[in-house]
Amino acid sequence: MHDTNVLTLALRLAREAGELIARQRASLSISYKDGTELVTQADVAADELISNGIRRSYPDHAILSEELNPEAATTAEHLWIIDPIDGTVNFAHRHPQVAVSIAYYRKGEARVAVVHNPFLQETFHAVAGRGARLNDLPIRCAKTTELNRSIIATGFPYVREDLPLLMRRLEHVLEQCADVRRLGSAALDICWVACGRLDGYYESVKAWDFAAAQLIAREAGAKFGHIDELPKHINPQLCGDDLLISVPALFSPLQHLLQEASGTAGPEVQVASGQH
Ligand code: IPD
Ligand code: CA
Ligand code: CA
Repeated sequence: MHDTNVLTLALRLAREAGELIARQRASLSISYKDGTELVTQADVAADELISNGIRRSYPDHAILSEELNPEAATTAEHLWIIDPIDGTVNFAHRHPQVAVSIAYYRKGEARVAVVHNPFLQETFHAVAGRGARLNDLPIRCAKTTELNRSIIATGFPYVREDLPLLMRRLEHVLEQCADVRRLGSAALDICWVACGRLDGYYESVKAWDFAAAQLIAREAGAKFGHIDELPKHINPQLCGDDLLISVPALFSPLQHLLQEASGTAGPEVQVASGQH
């Protein structure tokens, strides 16, 4: 099976889901998962549209998706990872920073990625080894080399169990970087690093939040990894704990300052653990 056919399908489904989401924004019905996490009928409808579309073309592929299959195993040779609406809180409040995110993984590695913002009409995509694009034009990350000139995005979990750590990290970043953004869509934050609108991003998220965007960022020349080095048996492309994605020159300095905030930093600037 060819990555190009997968890309064509992923682009079509992302655009169809985007149209559905835009239509449904006029009459939203909102509920709360586990009492805190906002979800709308459009999240479920978009997940159904994408999942059914994949099953029609590839009935033997596994699907991990936030609304319909959040517990699916990630060990299948052919695995699709879907966030039907990334930025649901933005969506429900009519902010435009919202995306449909679709990734296709083969043997644990992202091969094809689409992140589509239906409100700004921006579609990011990447195929492994073939570069990243925004609305079909090639993109590269910024060339920023100084922390004090960098704009860093982050996000905060729905359940704020470790607020002191989150605040310490924010404080360290605000002390040393130019400014911080909390835009409300992890997938778009990472794609914005890819296209040079941001210099870095860190957060703990789920696989569906970053699976597609991390390939787009790496293909655009950004460095992808984690704040602390992961144990060897963990696949970094499926682990959303303490993600760090940035322009290459700032990865180690950011990693070090975030490690300092959590008390895991070594005495000197660490060699980056992330992969490109
Ligand atoms: C959320 C967004 C947000 C991030 C949260 C995610 P959702 O995804 O990506 O930016 O801070 O951690 O859960 O719930 O809108 O799909
Ligand atoms: Ca999400
Ligand atoms: Ca979502």
